[in-house]
Amino acid sequence: MSTAGKTSNGQIEVELRNVHKRFDKLVVLDGVNLDLRRGETTVILGESGAGKSVILKHIVRVLRPDKGEVYFRGRRIDELSERKLSRIRPEFGFLFQLSALFDSMNVRDNIAFPIIEHRRLKDREVDEIVRQKLAMVGLSGIEKKWPAELSGGQKKRVALARAIALDPKIILYDEPTTGLDPPRSDVINELILKLKRKLNVTSIVVTHDMTSAMKVADRIMMLYHGKFIFDGTPQTIKESSDERVQHFVEGRATEEDLASL
Ligand SMILES: Nc1ncnc2c1ncn2[C@@H]1O[C@H](COP(=O)(O)OP(=O)(O)O)[C@@H](O)[C@H]1O
Ligand SMILES: [Mg+2]
Repeated sequence: MSTAGKTSNGQIEVELRNVHKRFDKLVVLDGVNLDLRRGETTVILGESGAGKSVILKHIVRVLRPDKGEVYFRGRRIDELSERKLSRIRPEFGFLFQLSALFDSMNVRDNIAFPIIEHRRLKDREVDEIVRQKLAMVGLSGIEKKWPAELSGGQKKRVALARAIALDPKIILYDEPTTGLDPPRSDVINELILKLKRKLNVTSIVVTHDMTSAMKVADRIMMLYHGKFIFDGTPQTIKESSDERVQHFVEGRATEEDLASL
């Protein structure tokens, strides 16, 4: 709980409080409350277009709420100036939905990019960080390769190495397994678990991959029509009596979905 605009609980890393967001007439977030507990992995489920990416963008302040508040470690960030925000940004490591590597840069330069932008280091110090981060994602020695030479799964892992380049406190994963086959998806799941363990990070994973959700989540929440309708664990979501949750968990079409066939 919170008082006087500050979160009083030191274990809450990020908090969204009563966040509303619309694009023209489309209401995407309709009073979202979310707290990410330190060291936990929170999975956000929801159908395509539910507003999952929009939530992540509020956490890293790419978007700002129409109404409501966003806090990082008890500090309100939705109203911070760009200058103050630039000091907080390195605390967030964002794995984008489409990896978003720079095609014109090799692997080394892709991972070095945020390091050069935020830290003043010698080339060989940057090289050493790149080497460590590649080792962390299990891709040692590919510094000189180009994105075009990598498989989809490898691109994700390089993008992940880049996301952790500045030792973030929070890693945000936007559909990390989408487009990967089951074994390669599982490599990503294992990496999410490994990074949590080794880096003690707080993680938020947006997905509609139930296998992945069940494997990596400490906590699962489901977004539906602009609000969270479920907050529990991999165990309790299976036992949920809410039809909307059940349809999603079991991957079944609703009667409404089928009515138009
Ligand atoms: N910058 C934007 N401008 C207008 N509409 C947007 C913008 N960002 C997202 N939307 C819309 O908001 C809804 C939720 O988007 P998103 O969060 O990307 O969904 P998802 O849950 O699939 O990640 C979608 O209908 C999307 O078209
Ligand atoms: Mg999305």
